[in-house]
Amino acid sequence: MYDVEKMQAFLRGRLSRERFAHTMNVAKECRRLAKLYGEDPDRAYFAGMVHDICKEDPRQQQLEWARLSDMGLCPEEEAAYKVWHGVAGAYFLRTHFGVIDEDVLRAVRFHTVGRSGMSLLEKIVYLGDMTSEERSYSGVEIMRRTCNESLELGMLYALRYALKKQLKRNALIPHYTLEAYNEYTRMFPENTYHI
Ligand SMILES: [Fe+2]
Ligand SMILES: [Fe+2]
Repeated sequence: MYDVEKMQAFLRGRLSRERFAHTMNVAKECRRLAKLYGEDPDRAYFAGMVHDICKEDPRQQQLEWARLSDMGLCPEEEAAYKVWHGVAGAYFLRTHFGVIDEDVLRAVRFHTVGRSGMSLLEKIVYLGDMTSEERSYSGVEIMRRTCNESLELGMLYALRYALKKQLKRNALIPHYTLEAYNEYTRMFPENTYHI
């Protein structure tokens, strides 16, 4: 169903060496998490592999595709070029590769900002991106251990981490991220641990 070899060859030609390595590490991590949590490992591998497909496209191109997409680009995202590649990537996969699996498309679209009501695959791609082999931020080991115990608790830590970074940068917060944060904070009201 997913032509992994064709996609891998395409990405190798499209991405820098570092981004390609990241992409393959995320794919592997997504497959591992999928096996752990009962998602289809091949589908998760493919979704992880394509999550940054548009990351290195010219910003203007990313914005154009993100605007053309019908996947709900919000004004706060429109103000933050770093998240355009998720929405643009889902659009590109749908229009240029004929990907019709909405769950895969949403996993790509929301891997930057999260959302409330994320599917298992969406959580796997979001967290696979944060825990891939080459990641070395302080707290990554705790993040990895947490993801092995609970994807939901992993999402809470990941969202706190992302929000803290955005607040420090004086950035606007997309409502998707706030809604996701509220969802997981309600799930773990006693947990105040931060990575
Ligand atoms: Fe990304
Ligand atoms: Fe990524």
